[in-house]
Amino acid sequence: MNLYKKLLEYSKEGIYPMHMPGHKRNVEMASMINPYSLDITEIEGFDNLHSANEILLEGMNRAAYLYGSSYTNYLVGGSTAGILAGIASCTKKGDKVIVARNSHKSVYNAIYLNELKPVYVYPKQIDSFGINGDISTDDVKDLLEKNPDAKLIIITSPTYEGILSDIKSISELSHRYGVPLLVDEAHGAHLGFHKDFPDNSIKAGADIVIHSLHKTLPAFTQTGLIHINSKLISYETVKRYLSIYQTSSPSYLLMASIEQCITLLERESMELFTSFFNELDMFHQRMGQLKYIKIMNKDDVSRIGCFDFEPSKLTISVKDTNINGNKLYNLLLNEYNIQMEMVSDNYVLGMTSICDTHEGFIRLGNALLDIDATLKNYLKNYDIYNNNRNSLSSNFKKEIYPEIIISSYEAIEKESNMVKLSESMDHIAAEYIYLYPPGIPLLVPGEQISNQMISDITNFLKNGLTVHGLYEGQNIKVVS
Ligand SMILES: Cc1ncc(COP(=O)(O)O)c(C=O)c1O
Repeated sequence: MNLYKKLLEYSKEGIYPMHMPGHKRNVEMASMINPYSLDITEIEGFDNLHSANEILLEGMNRAAYLYGSSYTNYLVGGSTAGILAGIASCTKKGDKVIVARNSHKSVYNAIYLNELKPVYVYPKQIDSFGINGDISTDDVKDLLEKNPDAKLIIITSPTYEGILSDIKSISELSHRYGVPLLVDEAHGAHLGFHKDFPDNSIKAGADIVIHSLHKTLPAFTQTGLIHINSKLISYETVKRYLSIYQTSSPSYLLMASIEQCITLLERESMELFTSFFNELDMFHQRMGQLKYIKIMNKDDVSRIGCFDFEPSKLTISVKDTNINGNKLYNLLLNEYNIQMEMVSDNYVLGMTSICDTHEGFIRLGNALLDIDATLKNYLKNYDIYNNNRNSLSSNFKKEIYPEIIISSYEAIEKESNMVKLSESMDHIAAEYIYLYPPGIPLLVPGEQISNQMISDITNFLKNGLTVHGLYEGQNIKVVS
């Protein structure tokens, strides 16, 4: 079977998408005629993304105005292209950068390509859900004081699970030190349009902000925006790197999809986000009936002491019950025809957007209530739901991260060989090891493999998760 046929058949199977792209295949909201009739190249009258001065520039200026940025450029290679170009624009080969350790692999690829020296700032850990929390402004301050030669700060906010860091205070701080702040806001293109959703990082003062439109808004996969709002970085430099990292033949279909998305937001954002928030609110209220399954909400996040939370993400945890994340994921898919975005050892993640339907929320809610009624807790006479809520905590766990022995660039360039994962302790990784999604490396080339890391990876495999970067499922590439 070919891909096109498979896609066509899949579209008829009635599986509900609790995953990106944010248009949710909701054709009523994102109607489009046969795409071939619109697919052109840089012909007369249609401008050129790499030297835009007509229709594409007008569209990008509208996007800049909508998000409150000085300059905005279309991305047709996802946030990945924006992150590679943004980081290259702010650094020279070999520079030191302060980076959140929970960054996406595109950040690590930029570090590798530019031979940068990362100094990590570690997120809090939210034990009760087993996810990363926010980045503390005090930790960034400490690193800025200890590393006066740092040239850039790179932070992801919101995270995959919707946790926000205090970008306003981090950007004020970084500017006091004369260091630009780049925020990977790939998961936050929908922020700033409604009082019940937090503001975006552009308004909070970040110098470069990168958005994937396709993740949380109705736009084609691969579409995104890079916003430049800075006295410290020149837009011309960013454009130069965008022309290196993006294709020389940007798709007019993708760019038209970006423009349509911006038009929709300009015209109807208040209405759309009000009804979206109401759906989310009703969903959470109904899910108050769950006994064992927990869905992370704003109160949980503030109780833990994380800065903020955006409500479109549904982190659905089965921690301390008799099933794991993988079982929940498969039950939802196979028994209820609901495809989730991501699975981890103890939870599944659903992504919602303004294009979700009322029926979609009801269907997920019904499925969760059904499954919950079949669950057991592990500990006898123990009210898991309430105990977990009360014991929500966050810790800094720098020690859970591996030690850096050499730079990723050195590790990748050196001679390497394969060893069995079980025999890899104390070796230096020569390959990224990560779960995808979310694409945050568990191990970065140049880091030492600890016993804890071996056991974490082994547990992920036992829980049925796909660990990327292993060879034949059990070997790991290490520096010779
Ligand atoms: C935090 C984060 N940043 C960047 C990216 C890359 O985005 P894109 O797929 O649009 O290139 C992702 C993708 O999952 C992500 O989760």
